[in-house]
Amino acid sequence: MAQVLRQLPKITDHRLLVGTSTADDAAVYRLTEDLALVQTVDVFTPVVDDPYHYGAISAANALSDVYAMGGRPLLALNIVGFPRAKLPLSVLEEILRGGADKASEAGVLIAGGHSIDDPEPKYGLAVTGTVRPDAVVRNVGGCGGDQLILTKPLGIGVLTTGIKQGKTSAAAVAEAIRIMETLNRDASEAMVEVGVHAATDVTGYGLLGHLYEMTSGSHVRARIWFSRVPILQEATHLVREGAIAGGTSRNYEYLKPRVTFAGLDEGEQLLLCDAQTSGGLLIAVAAARLDALTSALQRRGVAPIAHIGEIIGDGDGHIEVTR
Ligand code: CO
Ligand code: CO
Repeated sequence: MAQVLRQLPKITDHRLLVGTSTADDAAVYRLTEDLALVQTVDVFTPVVDDPYHYGAISAANALSDVYAMGGRPLLALNIVGFPRAKLPLSVLEEILRGGADKASEAGVLIAGGHSIDDPEPKYGLAVTGTVRPDAVVRNVGGCGGDQLILTKPLGIGVLTTGIKQGKTSAAAVAEAIRIMETLNRDASEAMVEVGVHAATDVTGYGLLGHLYEMTSGSHVRARIWFSRVPILQEATHLVREGAIAGGTSRNYEYLKPRVTFAGLDEGEQLLLCDAQTSGGLLIAVAAARLDALTSALQRRGVAPIAHIGEIIGDGDGHIEVTR
């Protein structure tokens, strides 16, 4: 995708605070001195069998890109692809009900949308939010000494791939759904309150892919402590039984020359590259503000609050993973 987008003419406009020049989560457009629009869209195919939960997860995931920028989502439009001839309309109703409930939990109005006939179901939201121009949190801006915090466990991609292969237990499906449906709103409010250097949500490129966007864009290097990274228990088994998404394999191939894995086996390396759906926020915070961020997250009930590594100085984005 990035390769194709590079061919398009570069957009420069002083009102566009965040555009396509970085791999950021959403676009930000300044309206006035103290108000900017945040705009994003996300759509995907079903990750779980239950249509209601699929809708809720997809909505939480789309809203997350606004939260990752430090913004507040206000309004959304449904985007739907649905095979009318193959599936009853009650399935579509459930998907939309899941999305609507999640949006309402977030205080977001779904004000309309668009649907097309499509052989495979697809659902997502185009989201509009606002942010104070001086409070925009980008995925670049990390500095040497910054500490890295992650707010959801990894392994979602392994578990959802395992669902398609009939390997994931019912209990693990329920846990994955709960995690994917959790809004990143509280984590976002905590980071905006404290002030952080950079953040992104962990989605399709996995922890290391999104971290690499952050480190390479910030011209720094980072270190990850594997034993501190929260990983869903069943995913650590299923990854060894081949529950590996196509996107995860592509992430791994891309990241191999950019990451040094000290003493990790292949399954552990793959988990760090696992493509997530509606993953947590990855936040780079100045060491002096780490305690303030931890308590702001705790106060809002965010869990886990995993301190997984640090930025170690200038560089080309290289990541070192130790045990
Ligand atoms: Co994102
Ligand atoms: Co996105």
